[in-house]
Formats: sequence, structure tokens, C-alpha cells
Amino acid sequence: MTQAKTILLGKSTEDIARAATLLGAGRLVAFPTETVYGLGADARQRLAVADIYAAKGRPSFNPLIVHVADEDAAKRYVMWNEMAGRLARAFWPGPLTLVLPLRADHGLSSLVTAGLDTLAIRVPAHPVARDLLRALDGPVAAPSANPSGRISPTTAEHVLAGLDGRIAAVIDDGPCRVGLESTIVGLTGERPRLLRPGGIASEEIEMAIGGALDAHSPGDTLNAPGQLVSHYAPRAQLRLNADRPAREELFLGFGPMVCDLNLSEAGDLAEAAANLFDHLHRLDEMLRPIAVAPIPDCGLGRAINDRLRRAAAPREQ
Ligand code: TXA
Ligand code: MG
Repeated sequence: MTQAKTILLGKSTEDIARAATLLGAGRLVAFPTETVYGLGADARQRLAVADIYAAKGRPSFNPLIVHVADEDAAKRYVMWNEMAGRLARAFWPGPLTLVLPLRADHGLSSLVTAGLDTLAIRVPAHPVARDLLRALDGPVAAPSANPSGRISPTTAEHVLAGLDGRIAAVIDDGPCRVGLESTIVGLTGERPRLLRPGGIASEEIEMAIGGALDAHSPGDTLNAPGQLVSHYAPRAQLRLNADRPAREELFLGFGPMVCDLNLSEAGDLAEAAANLFDHLHRLDEMLRPIAVAPIPDCGLGRAINDRLRRAAAPREQ
């Protein structure tokens, strides 16, 4: 699995073709999506998918999201239903992942679902991700392109900082627009269920389905890293809902205030989401404890607070 050198690719047709050839050959390629950079492997190839887990140091029970080019491609792998169609029409391509029952003839490596009989699937909106999916003409399994448990990458530099030499290539197309992972909605029960808050606010999803989403409950049979308490963790300690920093702390602000870095001076939650992981990466490099200003718990603020709580949670080791 050790690779000599990670190739840096751009978004030209030749580079996308080269990335697709690498994926087809069972190699790992990191690529931009509108949410975060993904670490892609051909979802049909067992060894390639196994390499994702190895490169990330990811616990093998954590299932992966499969990325496809459009709704028709999604229907090859999951049992579609009316609610899936409604959500796909409203939000695909875009930062929404649907969990649906796996089809018997799916043809994917069982490592992708970590043995579950459901599949998380999404159609990304980023033009580079879409070009890559079309060039491969196949399903791409892709978790966020960071070592397991660390801050998600929103630039190619973040990807290389964590995975250089462990993956075949990374396609660089600058920072990700949304900056938070996709919202995950489970459609395997009676009612749609919010499994992970993310890049689409749950209020928007509730508008589209014309009703409330069930909340994720601890009884769910889901062992998701996004659901592990300590996740997205910087090396430094994080203190949330701080009015001001203590003497040794760096201060991550929100709204007009004096601070080391500001998620959004204008108090805009979409801008804060886009800045969140990059600012955490930058503050983390200074190896000092970090205090974070309060973020309103509505709209995208819910997903931001979810990631911050996990980053602040006590961790083992
Ligand atoms: O925006 C995103 O979703 C990014 C980009 C690259 O697409 N991907 C991403 O993947 O965040 P990852 O692996 O970091 O998070 C996937 C989440 C995990 O919490 C995983 O447990 C959950 O999706 N998941 C995967 N398959 C599932 C399933 N069958 N049922 C429930 N949850 C599932
Ligand atoms: Mg992740």
C-alpha cells in the first residue's frame, strides 16, 4: 500500500482521464467535492476499498459513501422508493447522502458497506467529481480524505498533509464550497431519519419532504465514525461556547469580535461552514488550546456545532 509519491493533478481532461485510469487500476485518488475532499476508490474492487481503510487507518466497521454520476446510476445499487426520488430531485447533485436498502445484484465490494444490508449513496455537485465519475463510468467509494479521526480536508494541501505518500494522486481544485460533509438521511425505516447533520440544513430537507425528520437515536444499528463521540479532532484541546479566550488560548470567533481567526465576521453560517475545517487546521498548527465563540444552533449551525462538539470531546490515547 505504501506509494512512493502522490501525484498532484489538475482538472484538465487529461488529468481527469489519468485519475480515472488510476481508479480503474485499483489505486486511490483524492478529489474535490463541494463538501470536503474525498478519498476515492473503485467501489467494485475489494483490494482498492481495503486500501482506503488502510490509508486512513479507519476502523473496518465504518461503512463508506458511494458516489455516482446521477440518479439512474444510484438505482443500480439501491432499492429506490418514492421518498428517495423526492429528495434526489430536490437536492441532487449536492451535499445529501441517502441510506437505502442494498440491491441483491449490487456488485460492490462488501467492504464498502462493512457488511450492512444498506448503502449510503450520493451524487456530488462538484464539476471535478462529476467529470471523474463520468470518466470512470463506475461507482466511487469515498470517505473524507483525512487520517481517521482527524479534521476533514477542504483543500488539496490538507489532503497531502495527512496522506502524502499513502495515495496515488490528488486532484487539486482549490477550497471546497460548502466545507462540511453531506447531510445523511436514512430511508430504510418508516420515516426519513437524520443520521448526520451536514451541508444541507435539516430545515430545508423537512421543507422538501413536507414533515419532520426523525432524529438519530443511539439505538440505531449504525457504527459510524461521524457518530463516534470523538471525531474530527485537532491535536489541541478545544473549548466551546467561549465568550473570550483564556490567556494561553487561541480564539476562533464568529460575528464581529476580536479573535485569532473568524469563521464569519458577518455572522453568516454558510461562510462559517466553509471556513470551519480550514480554520481548525490553521489554528491546530500553532499547538495551543483553542476557544471557540458560540455558534447559533439553527440551519447550518447545527452541523457546525455537531462537528465542534466531536472535536472537543475527550478522546482516548
Ligand atoms: O460529504 C461527504 O459525505 C464526504 C464526501 C467525500 O462525499 N464523505 C464523507 O464520508 O463524509 P465519511 O466516510 O467521512 O463519512 C461517511 C458517513 C460515516 O459516518 C458512515 O458511518 C456513514 O456515512 N455511513 C456509511 N454507510 C452507511 C450506512 N449504510 N448506514 C448508515 N450510515 C452510513
Ligand atoms: Mg470523515
